[in-house]
Amino acid sequence: MIERNFDVAFVAGLALREKQIQQNYRPIIAVHKWFARRPGTLFRALLLSEFATSPLRDAFYRSNNLAGRLVADPFMGGGTPLLEANRIGCDVVGYDINPMAYWIVREEIEHIDLPKYREAALRLRKELGTRIGHLYKTQCRACGFAEADVKYFLWVKVQPCPRCSTNVDLFPGYLLAENRRHPRNVVVCAICGELNEIRALENAEVCSSCKEPLVLDGPAKKNRCLCSCGAALRYPDPKIGPPRHRLFAIEYHCTRCRNSHQGRFFKKPDEGDVAKTIEAAEMREGMRSDFIPDDEIPRGDETDRLHRWGYRRYAEMFNPRQLIGLHQICELVVQEPCDRIRRALATNLSDLVRYQNMLCRYDTMALKSLDIFSVHGYPVGLIQCESNLLGISDDRTETSVGSGGWSNIAEKYARAKDYCERPFEVRDSAWQKARIYTSGEWIGDGLYFVKTDRS
Ligand SMILES: C[S@@+](CC[C@H](N)C(=O)[O-])C[C@H]1O[C@@H](n2cnc3c(N)ncnc32)[C@H](O)[C@@H]1O
Ligand SMILES: [Zn+2]
Ligand SMILES: [Zn+2]
Ligand SMILES: [Zn+2]
Repeated sequence: MIERNFDVAFVAGLALREKQIQQNYRPIIAVHKWFARRPGTLFRALLLSEFATSPLRDAFYRSNNLAGRLVADPFMGGGTPLLEANRIGCDVVGYDINPMAYWIVREEIEHIDLPKYREAALRLRKELGTRIGHLYKTQCRACGFAEADVKYFLWVKVQPCPRCSTNVDLFPGYLLAENRRHPRNVVVCAICGELNEIRALENAEVCSSCKEPLVLDGPAKKNRCLCSCGAALRYPDPKIGPPRHRLFAIEYHCTRCRNSHQGRFFKKPDEGDVAKTIEAAEMREGMRSDFIPDDEIPRGDETDRLHRWGYRRYAEMFNPRQLIGLHQICELVVQEPCDRIRRALATNLSDLVRYQNMLCRYDTMALKSLDIFSVHGYPVGLIQCESNLLGISDDRTETSVGSGGWSNIAEKYARAKDYCERPFEVRDSAWQKARIYTSGEWIGDGLYFVKTDRS
């Protein structure tokens, strides 16, 4: 029983390692974001020390069958205790006052036909490509290829100057990318907006285009920004409505010249890119959508920050291209005839929304998008990152390039559901990490075609 068998030293090590990269230990968490996911290894250890007959260190890496036991969680949240209990054969009952918890736990436990899901997710992405794929293409600056895939659009907040009315860019700094994942630092020219690739930040350099000196510090500091006319403007200013943005940089992926190119691809937007932004805005103007809610943002500890930035309705947190894309996904999801697959696609859409809004930021070191929930509490930045909504498939590795797109979410979901059929533990030792499949265990609501010796 738990008082005797729970092995604190063993379990603390497991939980600590899991919390560092939870995804590698419990891929099931990728079914959908849930805040405060507890370590699955901890609950597996709790259950096995209570119910298993062999010492915890042995039972943990073996297949267990505790059929006949019933585990209930009246506040199930993301479902960790229930999933761990279900995996070792217990019957489970869960409750939660939050309908999202119910939806997510059902998605986690309910079986899905994986090949059929993969096909449906791919079909949806293809159709999305036909409808709006062109809005995510750009011309490669290195080789001229016109169909390079945009990974990220980078936007800076702009606000009109109270004295001269010009739109002022609220740049906190001009360093766009550090030289860790890319051979050089990428610096935006404060004068002409050109992107400059420089080796060392300490050396004063001039812009390759306008020859003016490059600077790293931006004009926006502590809620104040100087306009070139000398006037100071204050931000945020909720009286002028939700924030407005200007596209100032693009990170893209060129399949034509990636083999001869070093590092990532960056460009200052050209006329074609600006034209696509305008096209998206016009499409949005002409689109009537029952899928886009016009709900007001209620007052609350976290949402007050949104109000201070002038946001009144949730829909204002998205740019036109994001709204068109999310609307198109809704249209395609409702057309899916199979209930189970439709629910999975709707779950994917819901998870995708956290990457498809104008509160996402760009990690200048890791060079990827940070979703709206990467910090708990709607952090509004001055630079925002819009990810490619479709996601970019790399034909060589069959995985996605970049983050925050449909293909990324669908891949993660498929991996999560695959783990339900073939769960494993990771045994860490000083020199290696080994995956140990606990064949005979599975997570689900029925047997389907999973091979198991469980009765
Ligand atoms: C901390 S989470 C529980 C997580 C889960 N038991 C675990 O260990 O991973 C608490 C959950 O309780 C739910 N909750 C709060 N009040 C509730 C109530 N009166 N009835 C049902 N659920 C409730 C919340 O919605 C939340 O999802
Ligand atoms: Zn190219
Ligand atoms: Zn001014
Ligand atoms: Zn310049």
